[in-house]
Amino acid sequence: MMNESVGSGSAMSQAPSEPCTSTEGPGEERDESWICVGSARSFGARTTLSIHNRIVLLLRENSKWHCLDAICYHAGGPLSQAAVERVDNRVCLRCPWHSYLIDIEDGHGLYMDLSRRYRSKGARQRVHKVRQDGGQLFVQLCARAESVASDEYAFGAQLPPQVLRQRVQRYVPR
Ligand code: FES
Repeated sequence: MMNESVGSGSAMSQAPSEPCTSTEGPGEERDESWICVGSARSFGARTTLSIHNRIVLLLRENSKWHCLDAICYHAGGPLSQAAVERVDNRVCLRCPWHSYLIDIEDGHGLYMDLSRRYRSKGARQRVHKVRQDGGQLFVQLCARAESVASDEYAFGAQLPPQVLRQRVQRYVPR
């Protein structure tokens, strides 16, 4: 069992200065479900985005881009400020509010059982796909029909508007 802290969310990126230059999907695809969010080099390690009003966290970890709902499924904590930890070969965010662990690959919530082994509670945080193409980053919002616990907070309805404005660094309108 490994539980190693490998980073923290204190290094928030500034709003990207280079806007998206693509109006189509990545590669040969003409799939409008892929949304161009901007030039990859204009994003720091973490950026909180509003894509079609859904608040998501775009993060780069070990040279790979990930995207998941930015507000913790448990009670609305800001995952942009979560520490990154490796837990049993999973890369997780540890929410700064109540220390819940969330796998950044599949959004599973993890807990430690009585034998001190990490177990999955199943998908709790909605995870979205990210691709880089021609220097641009594209996000495909997860369209899974079954609800995921993080859906409750995904549109920021529980947050006062000024808090929402502070947290979201870039808006991608419809
Ligand atoms: S709000 Fe994230 S663990 Fe409670």
